[in-house]
Amino acid sequence: MSQDSKKELAAKEAFELIKADLMKESVIGIGTGSTTNFFIEELNRANVHIKGVVCSSDESERLVNDAYDVFSLNDVHGMDFYIDGADEFNDRKELIKGGGGALTREKILAQSSKKFICIVDDTKHVPLLGKFPLAVEVIEVARSAISRELMIMGGRPVYRQGFRTDNGNQIIDVHNMPIDVPYELEAKINNIPGVVENGIFSKRKADTIVCASANSIEII
Ligand code: 5RP
Repeated sequence: MSQDSKKELAAKEAFELIKADLMKESVIGIGTGSTTNFFIEELNRANVHIKGVVCSSDESERLVNDAYDVFSLNDVHGMDFYIDGADEFNDRKELIKGGGGALTREKILAQSSKKFICIVDDTKHVPLLGKFPLAVEVIEVARSAISRELMIMGGRPVYRQGFRTDNGNQIIDVHNMPIDVPYELEAKINNIPGVVENGIFSKRKADTIVCASANSIEII
């Protein structure tokens, strides 16, 4: 089974999980990436009667069809569910996200939602986070200074050339970063002046992980 088919399965299963709890006041947070795109397709197809959605990127916003009102987070009192993919997850449901560069809004939406359901295929499961490069969103003028700090922490920072986040910032992808204690490193990186956010999701990790493999779907 292809990775895309597994992503689609996970997305469909997540929709099945929340379907019965959707009401006319419900607000769904929607993340970014190819797995989340399958979820948006499912939502578009289902045409459910809810208050609306909040998206973590302009790209996801474009994919949601006209049947749904798209709100800014400032216009709603939080979200019932936040559905998003991940680049890696561990047994503690901590994540690395940000491959698509939307990590800052993703973390804000995850934090503001009652339930964060992460949809993944089994290739994303790792014993220790950090094989996937860790995205750090930075203010442009601080990029080199932050890169030096990240090197001192043991990583190999690589500037994501030609990319701007929806917030107008730049991304440093940190390779081979030792992430022994995700919670501590998440806070430590965010303490460097000029860092907007980093892709470790430990403080606000997933509540539920829907993981699709070739033979089964696991709800963790
Ligand atoms: C975007 C993300 C995505 O959730 C992550 O990169 C996974 O993407 P995909 O579903 O395409 O594998 O964090 O910033």
